Amino acid sequence: MRSKIDELTIESLTGADAAREIPSLARLRMQVFREFPYLYDGSTAYEEKYLAAYTAVPDAVIVTARAGEVVVGAATALPLVDAVEEEQAPFREAGWPLDRICYFGESVLLPEWRGRGVGVSFFTHREAHARSLGLTKAVFCAVDRPADHPRRPADYVPLDAFWRKRGYERIPLETTFSWQDLDEEAESPKRMLFWAKDLT
Ligand SMILES: CC(C)(COP(=O)(O)OP(=O)(O)OC[C@H]1O[C@@H](n2cnc3c(N)ncnc32)[C@H](O)[C@@H]1OP(=O)(O)O)[C@@H](O)C(=O)NCCC(=O)NCCS
Repeated sequence: MRSKIDELTIESLTGADAAREIPSLARLRMQVFREFPYLYDGSTAYEEKYLAAYTAVPDAVIVTARAGEVVVGAATALPLVDAVEEEQAPFREAGWPLDRICYFGESVLLPEWRGRGVGVSFFTHREAHARSLGLTKAVFCAVDRPADHPRRPADYVPLDAFWRKRGYERIPLETTFSWQDLDEEAESPKRMLFWAKDLT
């Protein structure tokens, strides 16, 4: 699938085409996730370990937003059965059918390209990919930070309304991911809250 927004090309990539974009995805993750609420003090070693999952899964997709040759945004998805244990476990324990669910990973877009519909397009592309695999539910998780977090910018707008408008709702499942925050000396677990949408 391929679409255009202004001078940007949004494209769903799989297999070797997706694998070629992993360095761009790692660069974007390290840049965008340094911002609140992720505050991720990324390292190439962590990125290589995390993103290796995507190269090994034939049904994974990386959606890229490209301005000319430069990738300025990316989003990922893969069947939940191929996701890591921290992502699968809450659904298994709650009795959800793992083999019907598509797990959406990150959406990362450089700030100067926001507000023109690329984030919406990332959802459209990933939902189309999930449906093409016969999956009937899409889920993702987002970090839970306290409202009074010292690094929260005064003008920070949570993405909850954006996600609700796309048809996603909070579900009572959560997990933890570990990474090193900008203010931390080492990795620590972060509480991640799940959202879901029926694709039928
Ligand atoms: C999440 C993220 C990718 C969304 O990117 P985005 O491209 O700015 O989002 P969009 O432009 O598609 O949507 C934002 C709003 O602009 C609206 N919009 C769409 N087209 C538009 C246009 N041409 N002009 C102005 N606004 C537009 C959208 O409708 C949406 O509003 P709505 O929710 O009221 O419908 C981006 O905010 C980001 O990278 N955030 C940091 C990383 C992050 O937290 N990721 C999520 C967790 S992994």
